[in-house]
Amino acid sequence: EVVREWSGRLQLEQSLASYLNIKEVIIVPGNVDTNTNTALLQSKEAAKYLESILSDESIIAVTGGTTIASISNYVHQTDKWKQLLFIAARGGVGKDVRLQANTIASLFANKMNGSYRTLYMPDSLSEEAYSTMKNEPFIKEMMDLYERTNIIIHGIGDALEMAHRRNSSVEEMQRLKEIGAVSEAFGYYFNNQGEAVHRIRTIGVQLKQLENMEHLLAVAGGTKKANALLSYFKQAPAQTVLVTDEGAAQEMMQII
Ligand code: G3H
Repeated sequence: EVVREWSGRLQLEQSLASYLNIKEVIIVPGNVDTNTNTALLQSKEAAKYLESILSDESIIAVTGGTTIASISNYVHQTDKWKQLLFIAARGGVGKDVRLQANTIASLFANKMNGSYRTLYMPDSLSEEAYSTMKNEPFIKEMMDLYERTNIIIHGIGDALEMAHRRNSSVEEMQRLKEIGAVSEAFGYYFNNQGEAVHRIRTIGVQLKQLENMEHLLAVAGGTKKANALLSYFKQAPAQTVLVTDEGAAQEMMQII
């Protein structure tokens, strides 16, 4: 059983949920930036929450990144659910295959006796490749699955950190700064008003599709992500549940 009791937790969770205008905030003690135990607690809480919302035929989309990858370690090995389907929310990110949505979807599926669908393509497509790809049957199938997705588990990153991980050029980094990109999620970059100011040209979940999903589980912690979180949550769907840590939560309260 995960222990995450500490004085003032409940109040902080409630204040943040109401400020961010989302369904629920779950906070674990510590700061993932400096404490690996906090990262572990955060992943366990997220895994527990995911297990509580699954049903027999759930379609679960997952994004990439270290945070979401880690959660798959803490879901329980089970064959309780009949037909779980895990899908990659979009193509790859960076060079590390272990952190790509595709790989993470397969990790969850193997653990929970489900199946998975992947989306292998470069992270950033040319205009031409993008228009051609969009009409490919396997892409259309994926798009249809996004329409029927009940649950999405996603990370939230700092815009420039994510651009760096994607090996973006100096010009691209400069442009992101100019347009005020603060956070990144699902390949979208948001400014401090929560406006999507840029999107990497890849196939994946569309922002408007998130609105129809029953459960959105956002997992991101650490003091360093406070600004990114505030930016992303300026526009997040109200049914979102955020699992985070004390570091990010306290820092957000300071900024607010
Ligand atoms: O989109 C944001 C990233 O998924 C965050 O990655 O969990 O490795 O910080 P991270």
